[in-house]
Amino acid sequence: MDHSDLQAARTWQLSERAIKLTSSAIREILKVTERPEVISFAGGLPSPATFPAEEMRAAADRILRDNPAAALQYSATEGYLPLREWVAARHSHGGVKIRASQVLITTGSQQALDLLGKVLISPDSPVLVETPTYLGALQSFSLYEPRYVQMPTDDEGLVPEGLTPQLTERARLLYAIPSFQNPTGRRLPLARREALAAFAKRAPFPVVEDNPYGELDYAGEPLPTLLSMAPEHIVHLGSFSKVLAPGLRVGYIIAPEALHHKLVQAKQATDLHTPSFTQRIVHEVVKDGFLDTHIPKIRALYRSQCEAMHAALARFMPEGVSWNRPEGGMFIWVNLPAHIDAMKLLEAAIAQNVAFVPGAPFFAGEARHNTLRLSFVTVPPAKIDEGVAKLGALIRAQAGAQAGA
Ligand SMILES: Cc1ncc(COP(=O)(O)O)c(C=O)c1O
Repeated sequence: MDHSDLQAARTWQLSERAIKLTSSAIREILKVTERPEVISFAGGLPSPATFPAEEMRAAADRILRDNPAAALQYSATEGYLPLREWVAARHSHGGVKIRASQVLITTGSQQALDLLGKVLISPDSPVLVETPTYLGALQSFSLYEPRYVQMPTDDEGLVPEGLTPQLTERARLLYAIPSFQNPTGRRLPLARREALAAFAKRAPFPVVEDNPYGELDYAGEPLPTLLSMAPEHIVHLGSFSKVLAPGLRVGYIIAPEALHHKLVQAKQATDLHTPSFTQRIVHEVVKDGFLDTHIPKIRALYRSQCEAMHAALARFMPEGVSWNRPEGGMFIWVNLPAHIDAMKLLEAAIAQNVAFVPGAPFFAGEARHNTLRLSFVTVPPAKIDEGVAKLGALIRAQAGAQAGA
């Protein structure tokens, strides 16, 4: 940009919506984590060691050889039909039958969140969210100016008994991540899933189940999805980001047809469709059961990474610090002594080349500043030890400084 461009940009009138957008302070701080010397527990990135590059290359070759015209052409907003059928079949078992007509392929499940915001949220609409919840969902929904209502949660996640008529009055949607939640890593137990599915059947608004981590349970025994318990009442978001590769940007929404239709209209206006080529690559890779052998490898890797992080936390964290033991997924949630602010701790940690994400931005309402999220899947175990040891020493120093104050 030359100087006159800058001048123009400064004086152009932006929309009210754009004026309200802010860059998170944390994102700015975390830019430094891209430096190779930084041990980063901050990113929510899957491990590149799990990306099936060879299978992708072979699939792309076959697609470009056999059907280049369709793969490189515009296509239907709803998505590539064989992939929609595959998704529907994967979610159909026992008495549950999901129809391809309920499936909309999206550009990552992040787009699904934006589309839900577009079609369900008006200014000041109450939106029910967990405490804490996925920051990216808050960012997507916030563009549509909802009024967030934090639902009661405990160490096992959302407490369905807390969904009282007063709390849920006039709500437009309930947003939940029942399996290995981002940021806490917790998984909603079976009885609570049943209660939440029963609630969804009565509720005059959709219960949204965001499920990118559902299959990453270390024991290989996923709990039933809310979708399988109330298929006509749950809006289910799925993603290939954590089981194949996030750079593909392929996810999906399963929704009852009436809502599906509105979501298709909104998506058409947004990006016409998710790239034909990447949808076909995903389908070509998964169609013959590849995930049945691939996902267990991801589980095994993440389980051992999680164990390494646990061992390090047990060894290096001072008294007064607690954390959970996730049964799957990519995150551990840490509670610091009440007087330690994770944001201040981050500044000190970055000075020592260690990074994490403070918990506060994951809260839609009043935040708990003494919390943080650790992501363990991309850091080698020796570096996990080194990074956690530094964090432990910093926390000990900050706790000591407070005690001496
Ligand atoms: C809970 C949750 N939902 C949605 C997403 C977005 O995933 P994607 O757009 O890659 O499918 C993420 C990404 O980290 C996530 O943690």
